Amino acid sequence: MKKRVSARINSFDSSVFRDVFRKQALLDTPVDLSVGTPEEKTDTAIKQAGIAAINDDKTGYTPANGLLELREEVQKKLSTQNNIHTSVDQITVVPGLTTGLLLVYMSILDPGDEIITMDPGYPPYDQLADALGVTVMSVVTLPDFQLNLAAIEASITDKTRAIVINSPNNPTGTVYPKKDLLAVAELAEKHGLYIISDEIYEHFIYEGEHFSVGSVYPDTISMFGFSKQHAMTGWRLGFMSGPLDVIEAINELQQYAVFSSSAIAQHAAITALRLEQNLSTKYKTKRDLVVNALTELGLQIEGVQGSYYVFFRAPNDMTDIEFCELLLEHNLILVPGRAFSSRHGYVRLSYGAEINEVKKGLDILTHVVNMLK
Ligand SMILES: Cc1ncc(COP(=O)(O)O)c(C=O)c1O
Repeated sequence: MKKRVSARINSFDSSVFRDVFRKQALLDTPVDLSVGTPEEKTDTAIKQAGIAAINDDKTGYTPANGLLELREEVQKKLSTQNNIHTSVDQITVVPGLTTGLLLVYMSILDPGDEIITMDPGYPPYDQLADALGVTVMSVVTLPDFQLNLAAIEASITDKTRAIVINSPNNPTGTVYPKKDLLAVAELAEKHGLYIISDEIYEHFIYEGEHFSVGSVYPDTISMFGFSKQHAMTGWRLGFMSGPLDVIEAINELQQYAVFSSSAIAQHAAITALRLEQNLSTKYKTKRDLVVNALTELGLQIEGVQGSYYVFFRAPNDMTDIEFCELLLEHNLILVPGRAFSSRHGYVRLSYGAEINEVKKGLDILTHVVNMLK
């Protein structure tokens, strides 16, 4: 048959979730602790900047790598906040980090190449690599969700091209200590690898400090976004810095695949970068609430030093799907852990939601787990 979708698309398997999504849709007013969006609305100043861009007719295409004014603002931010001192030519603006990741992969990887990712991890890292014919070597970070440096080194072959890291982490909330990130940089240097460092949750830190590995290892593609810190998920904007040849390759690809990110979002983002916003205290309160409630239930909690997720084992040796379905019967939505991991006994709770919603979710969880005892 000549008409068909590509074999590549068949590598995305979301069948296990369809049933869960179908059941979610039947709920009237569920308590939803599944989504990865923060509770905040986009700040008024940012919205006004977007509206002004529209009213001033700043709505056309921009250069493929983004407006110079935005890249200059990014350059300042990277230098002062991340200790990454780079030129504006080594910065590129992308329509969100998810697309950004695809652009990075397509720019540095060929079919048959290998990358190393951590399990559990953000699903596109593995899924997009699979779709591109790139082999994924997963390194399990269980039980404490920290980097297993020996296992990472053991996974390196002569086909390995990059190590993907994400701190603070989705779905575990882990913040990797600087010494471990330095050790990854040493490994990457020794074996001639890129590091792809997704730092989208850099400002959501409750214990430890954020360290940008790109500040010490120049062959890092450092990825940052507006979605979380600035509550701009729907504006679709992010930015990356890295070696000049890689950024130029990405720009070449953007020219054909993206043309340019939204001019309106880029103008708003300039304002976003100039705003002082600190959400850590507010989110730490929610984090403590969740960790205390789950610990009281006898559930073992690891990670949770940052981002706004908790990844924990379902009680009574239930599978993730069984436990999530039971919670759905009580009106609570969590995400089955198999979306993020080859291990099927975990679930992800997001406390990005507003605190009263989080409290309601914890009450349901407490009721259900006690019921199972
Ligand atoms: C680790 C991680 N990276 C990237 C993204 C997506 O970012 P963007 O909205 O910029 O595509 C998410 C969203 O949940 C995420 O958790």
